[in-house]
Amino acid sequence: MNMPGKSMAKRRIAVVGAGVIGLSTAVYISESVPKCSVTVISERFTPNTTSDVAAGMLIPHTYQGVPIHEQKEWFRETFDYLFEIRNSAEASDAGIHLVSGWQIFKTVPDEVFPFWSDVVLGFRSMNEKEMKKFPQHRFGQAFTTLKCDCPSYLVWLQKRLKVNGGQVYARRVEDLWELHSKFDIVVNCSGIGSRELLGDSQLYPVRGQVLKVHAPWVNHFIRDGDGLTYIYPGIHNVTLGGTRQKDNWSLSPDASSSKDIFDRCCALEPSLQRAQNMTVKVGLRPARLVVRLQKEILVHGGKKLPVVHNYGHGGGGFSVHRGTAKEATRLVGECIAALEGSSSKAKL
Ligand SMILES: Cc1cc2nc3c(=O)[nH]c(=O)nc-3n(C[C@H](O)[C@H](O)[C@H](O)COP(=O)(O)OP(=O)(O)OC[C@H]3O[C@@H](n4cnc5c(N)ncnc54)[C@H](O)[C@@H]3O)c2cc1C
Ligand SMILES: *[C@@H]1O[C@H](CO)[C@@H](O)[C@H](O)[C@H]1NC(C)=O
Ligand SMILES: *[C@@H]1O[C@H](CO)[C@@H](O)[C@H](O)[C@H]1NC(C)=O
Ligand SMILES: *[C@@H]1O[C@H](CO)[C@@H](O)[C@H](O)[C@H]1NC(C)=O
Ligand SMILES: *[C@@H]1O[C@H](CO)[C@@H](O)[C@H](O)[C@H]1NC(C)=O
Ligand SMILES: *[C@@H]1O[C@H](CO)[C@@H](O)[C@H](O)[C@H]1NC(C)=O
Repeated sequence: MNMPGKSMAKRRIAVVGAGVIGLSTAVYISESVPKCSVTVISERFTPNTTSDVAAGMLIPHTYQGVPIHEQKEWFRETFDYLFEIRNSAEASDAGIHLVSGWQIFKTVPDEVFPFWSDVVLGFRSMNEKEMKKFPQHRFGQAFTTLKCDCPSYLVWLQKRLKVNGGQVYARRVEDLWELHSKFDIVVNCSGIGSRELLGDSQLYPVRGQVLKVHAPWVNHFIRDGDGLTYIYPGIHNVTLGGTRQKDNWSLSPDASSSKDIFDRCCALEPSLQRAQNMTVKVGLRPARLVVRLQKEILVHGGKKLPVVHNYGHGGGGFSVHRGTAKEATRLVGECIAALEGSSSKAKL
């Protein structure tokens, strides 16, 4: 991007969306693209985004349409970045901590070593004595991974962006073209909002309901291998999950689901029966066969606006956010190079 002997205009970049994907992409751009200004425009901010509802565990969800080596790279990038934060003085501000625990299965899975097993720490099969805790299960994996306290992490990202000179505006974007006069490049990180905004019918909601309880004695995670039932201890409370309801847009808590979640979790961890102060949260996972990480040039009456899409992270946005932010930033770099190329041609 450095073209010697030529002064370049400062590139104005808008990022739509202030969930973990929008904020981490904005931070990545502000750290690595020279001569640019970054503005986040979003209808909702923490604590009101889907990203605030997430448990924030770093365990990848598999995207059927994305090559495994690419998903692994996104996960590794994210894990290594957060592990560095975890090992710095920033850890508690950023809400990043380590958590050890068990993923258990009723039947032995095809993949005894999932693709991410060498990215997390100390991955191994559970031994007989550990399995005694779970008489209904036949097989298990023990490992240590990272977890984000999602609202703290979002606040931390937002602060970081401001330190790097980025700005933040609260408003809904009806049509991307609105941003054309004020920005050179737009990055679309609107999560499930892209369904409406882009008319992307490949994107659908997967409703997730979780409980937050106070149970400070629970400090190991337990996850059923099917990913439906889980107990994830966090800094402030324990997240109990969950539900996976495809194409359900309801954000209202459902009492019978809460009872079902609680019962499933107590079956794995009976001590939760003494948990206190239950709160219920609901979020819509922005699901898609493949994460949309793509450039597109919008054209309106002879004018062009480059757009970089970064949405559709489904049930695993926290686990891969830094990796997809890096890829989106690379695409922004390509858009800038194209703009520099066309403006130098125009001058000739
Ligand atoms: C119950 C539950 C548990 C989860 N647990 C985990 C987990 O443990 N680990 C994990 O990795 N992932 C987990 N996830 C998945 C994770 O939450 C998502 O993948 C991630 O939050 C997606 O982030 P996002 O930034 O794309 O979306 P969002 O957080 O929804 O952000 C989208 C942003 O775009 C804005 N926006 C949308 N439309 C417009 C518009 N028209 N104009 C302006 N702004 C707009 C919104 O206001 C919002 O700020 C979980 C999800 C749920 C529901
Ligand atoms: C979050 O939503 C609540 C209720 O709608 C609102 O009062 C609050 O201002 C919102 N917070 C932010 C940061 O937007
Ligand atoms: C995302 O991009 C599409 C174009 O593909 C556009 O129609 C839509 O308005 C954009 N969404 C936002 C929130 O900017
Ligand atoms: C969980 O932690 C959050 C953040 O500190 C807090 O607002 C909420 O009240 C807690 N819920 C319970 C049930 O302890
Ligand atoms: C959506 O989920 C809620 C809570 O589980 C349920 O009550 C409702 O019937 C569902 N709606 C649809 C359309 O499936
Ligand atoms: C639980 O709720 C009770 C009553 O609202 C409150 O007094 C207590 O401080 C809460 N405990 C925790 C750990 O949040």
